[in-house]
Amino acid sequence: MKYKRVLLKLSGEALMGNKGFGIDNNRLMQYANEIKSVSEFGVEIAIVVGGGNIFRGVQASEGGMERTQGDYMGMLATMINSMALQAALESLGLQTRLQSAIEMKEIAEPFIRRKAVRHLERGRIVIFGAGTGNPFFTTDSAASLRAIEIEANVILKGTRVDGIYTADPEKDPEATKYSNISFDQVYNMGLSVMDLTAFTLCKENNLPIIVFDMNTSGNLLNLVQGAEVGTLVEA
Ligand code: GTP
Repeated sequence: MKYKRVLLKLSGEALMGNKGFGIDNNRLMQYANEIKSVSEFGVEIAIVVGGGNIFRGVQASEGGMERTQGDYMGMLATMINSMALQAALESLGLQTRLQSAIEMKEIAEPFIRRKAVRHLERGRIVIFGAGTGNPFFTTDSAASLRAIEIEANVILKGTRVDGIYTADPEKDPEATKYSNISFDQVYNMGLSVMDLTAFTLCKENNLPIIVFDMNTSGNLLNLVQGAEVGTLVEA
């Protein structure tokens, strides 16, 4: 196995599937099954989910809402997605623990790093909800931060494109995909992998990122088995 411990970042929008809002149950179960295959393979897996399918703080602030208020609402949206994912994983017989960065102890454990690590060691899938618990930080930043804290070997950023391209492949047919790229190249070329706060955290802590297509079945398992899937960003 190539990676012992991974942090999977899923976007909230991806959970919408073809719906315009909320959670598409088929997509949710599809993801749960992909995650199950990796967990059963013996890889320790922690997950951070976004909340954009339910609420986007940035957009709300463009509409006049105070940014901090919108961001906290977005954090609650990630909890809804996290609970849905937890339920989906448990329906497949997997052991999970949900930890929240904002205390809501009736529905989730508080985030406690040492407890999270123990859960992982015992084969439980750990979902980190409520982002970092702070406004002005994205869920990509939460994913980077948590991955570093739990000493994950890699961040797996599941998206709808199969990696990082020289240009936006949805706009430029000439765009080609990188299989490997360095942090410096990403930065110097201004390629968008994650927001800069999240990206810098990974770079400074030498945490590799793999951007891959989460909607292609088998990708996640192939990836942790060492196949070249998506684009690897490393030092
Ligand atoms: P071990 O100590 O390694 O056995 O872990 P454990 O998670 O099984 O032990 P614990 O007794 O801490 O947790 C039992 C169950 O209660 C698990 O499903 C936890 O997710 C849940 N749990 C623990 N702390 C909290 C909390 O503060 N709030 C909520 N809602 N659930 C909690």
